[in-house]
Amino acid sequence: MVVGAAQEHLVMRVLVTGAGGQIGRELAEVFTAAGHEVNATTSASLDVADRHAVRHALRSLAPEVVVNAAAWTDVDGCEDDPDRAALVNGRSVGHLVEAAQEVGAHVCHLSTDYVFDGRKLGPYAEDDEVNPLSVYGWSKLVGERELRPDDTLVRTAWVSGRWGRNVVTAIRQQAAVAPELSFVADQRGSPTIADDLAAKILELTEARTGGVFHVTNQGEATWFELARAVMASLGLAPERVRPITTAELDPPRRAVRPANSVLDNAALRRHGIALLPHWRERLDQLVTTMAANR
Ligand SMILES: NC(=O)c1ccc[n+]([C@@H]2O[C@H](COP(=O)([O-])OP(=O)(O)OC[C@H]3O[C@@H](n4cnc5c(N)ncnc54)[C@H](OP(=O)(O)O)[C@@H]3O)[C@@H](O)[C@H]2O)c1
Repeated sequence: MVVGAAQEHLVMRVLVTGAGGQIGRELAEVFTAAGHEVNATTSASLDVADRHAVRHALRSLAPEVVVNAAAWTDVDGCEDDPDRAALVNGRSVGHLVEAAQEVGAHVCHLSTDYVFDGRKLGPYAEDDEVNPLSVYGWSKLVGERELRPDDTLVRTAWVSGRWGRNVVTAIRQQAAVAPELSFVADQRGSPTIADDLAAKILELTEARTGGVFHVTNQGEATWFELARAVMASLGLAPERVRPITTAELDPPRRAVRPANSVLDNAALRRHGIALLPHWRERLDQLVTTMAANR
């Protein structure tokens, strides 16, 4: 580890995988802005499913920290190809951990609220029982189980950021062509803003805080409530969004989603780590930033 000349904190050599994705791009930017030496790899430059490529990359880059944002995130697509899901979202984490062990690196890995079945009344804490309903959720759980106890596992949910496709980009596109939009009002979760998430991952990683952490913005919503809030942030009439049930989705989704996947950030509280702000406080800012970047 190198002490930066102009900085008080320790500069880390960091490998971010999946850095072409919505959260990976944000992570690469946040770690770089904090003064760390970042190697940001994409699916083209480092395929995490390739065990030998992963080992070679870690040997040559010698990172002190690996932040894994690579995943096959097509939740419905995973239903059609469980083997690919198991490889990319499951065994690949094992490849990273194995290589990290060899070079002495800490691993921070991202997982999902979809490891829960949604039957709990109330928010899920980190030690609540997992029981994925979908191939995606199951494959992510396989990945979680590849980690060492001192690695950092961050479960997050319902992420929107400046890059990639998310509920904000979807609503912007739909609202431009359709007078009425339909969103389900029987799935409840924890909306999360990507740059807040990335900043908290930076904090956890700099301190090498190991264990399982639920990291989401505070507050909860159904997709219907979130969609109405996004419409308001876009300066559009929220009433154009009407509530539907999951059973009314046409076509129906192949993967079953949990009805309740609100994540309680209990481990952050237990460690005395500040929680992220309420999602409603941050949504306007994200929408403004996205409009400026268009
Ligand atoms: N977005 C959410 O709401 C959410 C919620 C909970 C958890 N998460 C977790 O957060 C992490 C990042 O998600 P995200 O939203 O940033 O998804 P994303 O935008 O789909 O990014 C995932 C990235 O991983 C890359 N990737 C896929 N297969 C790979 C492979 N074999 N090797 C290397 N890279 C590969 C993808 O590249 P290509 O596009 O080139 O394939 C993509 O750039 C994932 O672990 C996900 O499970 C996300």
